[in-house]
Amino acid sequence: MKFFHALSLLLSLSVALGAMRAADAPVRPKQDANGNPIRYAATGHASNYDEAKVGNYTLPDPLVFRSGEKVRDAAAWTNRRRPEIVKLYEDEIFGRVPATAPKARVEVIEAGTSVLDGAATRKHLVVRFGDKADGPKVNVVVYLPAKATPQAPVPLLLHTVFFGGLPSATPAEAPAGSPKAPPRETGPVADFIARGYAYATFRYTEIEGDRADTSLAGVRRLALAAGQEKPASGEWGTIAAWAWGTGRVLDALAADRAIDARRVGFIGHSRLGKTALWAGATDARIAVVFASCSGELGASLARRDYGESLDDVAANFPWWFTDRFQKFAGRWNDMPVDSHLLIALSAPRPVFVTGGTQDQWADPRGEFLAEVAAGPVYRLLGKKDLGTDQLPALDVPLIAGDLGFLYHTGGHTIAPGDWAAFLEFAGRTLRPMP
Ligand code: GCU
Repeated sequence: MKFFHALSLLLSLSVALGAMRAADAPVRPKQDANGNPIRYAATGHASNYDEAKVGNYTLPDPLVFRSGEKVRDAAAWTNRRRPEIVKLYEDEIFGRVPATAPKARVEVIEAGTSVLDGAATRKHLVVRFGDKADGPKVNVVVYLPAKATPQAPVPLLLHTVFFGGLPSATPAEAPAGSPKAPPRETGPVADFIARGYAYATFRYTEIEGDRADTSLAGVRRLALAAGQEKPASGEWGTIAAWAWGTGRVLDALAADRAIDARRVGFIGHSRLGKTALWAGATDARIAVVFASCSGELGASLARRDYGESLDDVAANFPWWFTDRFQKFAGRWNDMPVDSHLLIALSAPRPVFVTGGTQDQWADPRGEFLAEVAAGPVYRLLGKKDLGTDQLPALDVPLIAGDLGFLYHTGGHTIAPGDWAAFLEFAGRTLRPMP
């Protein structure tokens, strides 16, 4: 009897204590005084926006092998150090594409419709994966300058987007403000055409889904063996799948002889900016990369504790990565790579990076510093780095070299000024003929 009394006393005491604790628990703010989001990761980490609290970190040296040996010349970078870093990203971060990745085939839905007052021809292709009729498929909409011919092929701006991609959802057809208008995420298509570029868009989730419950519904599912439930350890997460799918879209576009598939600029924003960087690293046909506001595990240094952390992405978007990435939550310094190396994997090809003042979550300064740290690789390859290690003034593009940067006033978006700076930056490599 006594025992039960004691037990119930204990129980009610602990209930009361629990209630007190809940009442006393400090309210954890969801934003700081400047409106920046604060997230509390399972590792105990809370978002930091104070430069004084960023902490010290040492980045892996791009020009030193894992063994400690120095990279002495361009050949050592290209033939040995670069493949070493690609493999680290494949093994530990984004995952490698399995040999069972599905085959792609192309179907032409719309062979050529004159649009933009005759300035362009619009085509609609569908890239189908696997051999089932109801398998995953990606709609690709292409605007081709009317004057592009196999004798005078044009460079291509390829843009992976969140919502658009279908002919009925292009800016040319859906005026801003109309209920069917897509968010203004596609670029100024008439301007691209006037400058002499072809412009193609596709929706990333048509390659693979982007939620816990859809992220194994597209090409990654097709790659599974019978009875296999998920990709094997070290195999692709969805970022690698989106980058791989981009290559299949590019295959389809390269078959059009009016497009010069060696002059391709690839554009992605945010998680698609992360994808653009990995696509640039793994597909040499991409001659220029534009990673807009790509943030954590994109262009911004993961070791810098500012804005979104590695712990946040690992917990909130585990499907973006290979399974082995999880072990770096709370252990950022154990990562054998960081974003300066991801950027350097595209060298000597130019990379353009942007950030916004109202997008501190993506750590624009950390993106800039990553480009600074990628500089030695560009220089080794005879290319021009950013030219400075000082963050430039807002809205002043730094685009004289092969690494480009622009810190825009504004939010998490590709701003009109970003497009203008990108076109000037990319034009030197892609050489469109207006
Ligand atoms: C979230 C995520 C970012 C990502 C962004 C986006 O904010 O935390 O890492 O870049 O979504 O894709 O819009």
